[in-house]
Amino acid sequence: MTIDDFVVRVATEEDSSFAQAICDEMAESAKARGTGIAKRTAEYVSSKMREGKAVIAFHKDGRWAGFSYIESWGHGDYVANSGLIINPLFRKLGLAKAIKIRTFFLSRKRFPEAKLFGLTTGLAVMKINSEIGYRPVTFSELTDDQMFWHGCESCVNYPILLSKEHKNCLCTAMLFDPKIDTVKVSKPDDPNL
Ligand SMILES: CC(C)(COP(=O)(O)OP(=O)(O)OC[C@H]1O[C@@H](n2cnc3c(N)ncnc32)[C@H](O)[C@@H]1OP(=O)(O)O)[C@@H](O)C(=O)NCCC(=O)NCCS
Repeated sequence: MTIDDFVVRVATEEDSSFAQAICDEMAESAKARGTGIAKRTAEYVSSKMREGKAVIAFHKDGRWAGFSYIESWGHGDYVANSGLIINPLFRKLGLAKAIKIRTFFLSRKRFPEAKLFGLTTGLAVMKINSEIGYRPVTFSELTDDQMFWHGCESCVNYPILLSKEHKNCLCTAMLFDPKIDTVKVSKPDDPNL
């Protein structure tokens, strides 16, 4: 099996039937890693598909392979790339990287002026983000939109974030500011991006 056995594309409403399976895997994987995660509902994931704010991957036999979505905060000044999940059957093939790159260009297209950011405890994601052009920053550089931070309340590490008065936590924050940072990867050939 190689990355060529998969299709990676912007998700649409027709992909909604996979939303529950995607959410279940997000929760399962977070439990297995013992790390925190903001919980998402199938309804929320479906809404991202409907709005064209998500990227999905399928094996050519039709099984879902991976997913990620974008959210805007602070009236569109900031965009978070969140909810990255790869089906455990298909890990270590380069799918996370392919999905993150598409999610990045989708964010740039939908919100050209926005600062893009992500929070992660995972080495794979830090690596991919660095390869795209993100850099690590302190939480002070991220959105102060309370609704974004509200998402952290369902994370097991939330007491730590509170005890640190939202200044830091176990996640590393990574930011791409289009006014400062340079894109280090090329845009996939896709009219939706
Ligand atoms: C983390 C995750 C997204 C990686 O997906 P993947 O498709 O296997 O990743 P890729 O194959 O694209 O790998 C990208 C890079 O990360 C590395 N990598 C992948 N999994 C890794 C891991 N668990 N630990 C360390 N590095 C890892 C790869 O070797 C690769 O590096 P390279 O480019 O130097 O070869 C996937 O394991 C997953 O869904 N995990 C559970 C959910 C999760 O952690 N989501 C991220 C929340 S922020």
